[in-house]
This record gives sequence, structure tokens and C-alpha cells, in this order.
Amino acid sequence: ETSSSEKEKHLAAMKAVTYIKNGQVIGLGTGSTADYAIREIGKLVQKGLQIKAIPTSKKTQELAESLDIPIIDSNSVDYIDITIDGADEFNEDMVLIKGGGGALLREKIVASMTRKQIIVADSSKQVAKLGLAFKLPIEVIPFASNYVMNQVRGLGGTCDIRHQSGKIFVTEQGNWILDANFGHIKDPQSLSHSLNKISGLVCHGLFIDLADIVIIGRGNEEETIAR
Ligand code: A5P
Repeated sequence: ETSSSEKEKHLAAMKAVTYIKNGQVIGLGTGSTADYAIREIGKLVQKGLQIKAIPTSKKTQELAESLDIPIIDSNSVDYIDITIDGADEFNEDMVLIKGGGGALLREKIVASMTRKQIIVADSSKQVAKLGLAFKLPIEVIPFASNYVMNQVRGLGGTCDIRHQSGKIFVTEQGNWILDANFGHIKDPQSLSHSLNKISGLVCHGLFIDLADIVIIGRGNEEETIAR
């Protein structure tokens, strides 16, 4: 990572936390950009901000706890006021590809529970064509992985089971991740519908109509897109 993209992530994160109000329930995303926001939230909590947080991964939970951000159970609330999360890619329609960090399932559940979903990103994440720079992560039940791979091939994608340090990567839910290459994803809505019909496919990384605000760090400034 270049230091300029780190600066962009930090700028986006600093802007994102200005949306948070006292008493709110906040979803905490996963990844290096979300981490900047979590550290900013930690500073605000130190200064007296009262919020309760729902983390999207163990790593995020550990960071939040180290900053004394109060954590609550996802089942103890009916909705989340604001979530701040990163993305691997986004386009001008605010369609996202997520799951580079493997936390896509909890990220999608949290995004679905959230009233105001704020995506923070450095400028490199903005793409004209989805799916070219980044493969689409697909979380599968291990039992179904070969079946799902064949179905994905039928939809025009090639995929590999994600590995880490020579072993199959296992998600926090005990599932596997397929990284699928569909080339340019021209119709994310239709691909999403087709993927959602595959048995054993738990979740895919296309986030459609879930982002309300995208904050992009660009050089020394940040830019906000909202719908
Ligand atoms: C985690 O599963 C992903 O969805 C992240 O949001 C994504 O990988 C962004 O990470 P960075 O902020 O580190 O680029």
C-alpha cells in the first residue's frame, strides 16, 4: 500500500464518523479502511460519545474492545443506525464488491440491518467496470463447493477455492470462499439473482442497493456520493 492510499482511507474515515450521533447503534466493518474509522470512533468514545457497536468480524471486535468501544449482540437490536465499512470495488451506481477480507457474510447481514450504510474507500476502489480488478468472493458450505463451482461456471464464471498459507481459507462461520472471475459484470442485479438461487451458496460479495453513502478519499480531500 502506498502512503497516499493510506491517507485517502484516513480522510474518508474521518468524514464518515461525523455522521455518528450520541446513543446510536453502529455497525463496524472489516478491513484496513474500516479500521481507520474504528480508531476514530474510539477517540470519540474516549471523549464521551455513547454508542453501542456491532462488529462484522473477530478482528474488528478485538480492535473495538481494545479501544473500549462497547459491543452488543446483533440479536439484541432490530436495526443498526449507521454502519461504516470498506469495499474492494464500487461503481457509479454504488454497487459494491466486498469480501476481500473474507467477512462478507456478516458484512452483508449488518448492511441489511443498517439504516445508513456508509462506505469508506481510497480512490483506487472506484471502477468504471465491476469485476475486472477484483474477483467476486462467494461464500459456500464446504459440502457444496464443487456443485457451486459448476453452477458458477454455468453462469460464465471461473473460480478457485481461496487458500491462505497453503491451506483452504475457512470463514468465521466455518465456510469456504470461492473467488469467481466473471470478467466485466455488466448486470450485477441479474448475476446476484442467479447466484442467490444456488443451493449451498451462502452469500456473494455483490452489494446492491445497500450503500447509502460512499466517501472516497482523493488526494488531500474527500468526496461524498449519496443516493
Ligand atoms: C472484508 O471482507 C471486505 O469486504 C473489506 O471491506 C474490503 O476487503 C476492504 O478492505 P480494505 O479497506 O482493507 O481495502
